[in-house]
Amino acid sequence: MFKLRHHDPALPADSLAAPKSEARGVLALDIQTKYQFVDDSGNIFHEYRVPGSSEIQNCGGYVDKIAKYRDTALMSHLRASGVSKASFASFGSPILTTRSPQLDLLLFELIRDLRRRSNGARISLFDHGCSAAEHFDLLDVMLQASGEGRARDLLSYVGLDISPLLLAAAKMLHSDVEPEHFRFVVAEGSALDFPSRAFDLSLSVGVVNHVADPPATIKHLLRGTRYAAVMALWVTAEEQGFHVLNNSGVSFYFFSKRDLASLQAANPDGRFLVADFIPERHSSQRSSYINMDAHREEALGCYHLVFTRLKNSPFNFEQLAL
Ligand SMILES: C[S@@+](CC[C@H](N)C(=O)[O-])C[C@H]1O[C@@H](n2cnc3c(N)ncnc32)[C@H](O)[C@@H]1O
Repeated sequence: MFKLRHHDPALPADSLAAPKSEARGVLALDIQTKYQFVDDSGNIFHEYRVPGSSEIQNCGGYVDKIAKYRDTALMSHLRASGVSKASFASFGSPILTTRSPQLDLLLFELIRDLRRRSNGARISLFDHGCSAAEHFDLLDVMLQASGEGRARDLLSYVGLDISPLLLAAAKMLHSDVEPEHFRFVVAEGSALDFPSRAFDLSLSVGVVNHVADPPATIKHLLRGTRYAAVMALWVTAEEQGFHVLNNSGVSFYFFSKRDLASLQAANPDGRFLVADFIPERHSSQRSSYINMDAHREEALGCYHLVFTRLKNSPFNFEQLAL
């Protein structure tokens, strides 16, 4: 029996910050993913390497999420307790209290609301950075548990992702959904060249911060959305939005209030509602950014936003103050 101890593999931010030292050379980081087995004195007696490709790791992680969403115990729990933040929390699985399921709850409310307004017409949904289409699965569970029906009969889903591997997994895991209503685009996340108001609803979580021009990408996303978009946007209280590198060497953008104000100005027929705000200091993945000092980190956080053009939205969230 092994006793596993938590160990933060990220180097402390100040060990990477050049200004304190004279050395300004380029630092090469090598990232390895492995299990290490150590004895009581800390000596490694066995190492087990796992593939280091983030694409393979993402694929494994999202397929695992889908398996958890398809657990029949979850369906029974939601049937008995209703679909809500509280019933997600009381199920006792940590995964349901993470960011994505919380955003799926917002989408679920919007789908229900639109179904009432449109007498049950199919609702089109665009999922930006869709990975293995796990949002479709959780929506399916919520729609079934609440008696609305199956996602495959109620939605017309389009997912976009840069990874052919994840999209292949998405198709394999949903072979029972009619391809006509379950489509995928392999593309870089800023290539959102669909027509204006192409989708009823859209979702963007965990991808827009990695693309080349995040504010322009959200502008395209909102243009392509007829009723409402659910988004997680990482923001800074600094005047200007900025890019940093995370510990995997991936670029990460923080939106400024000015970015959000210009998105609002470009879409005067809609408004941003704030469902939640998680300061970076409460994030589960702190120390993810290279060269981020404590002062700069203090100004960061993640908004869970609903941009809506609906006059009466199903939420009574405050409007984002800009
Ligand atoms: C952190 S995951 C987020 C997945 C999911 N939306 C969620 O809620 O957890 C990021 C996803 O975006 C994809 N991705 C990363 N960079 C991308 C880019 N520049 N363009 C399109 N997709 C990208 C990845 O392949 C991965 O499936």
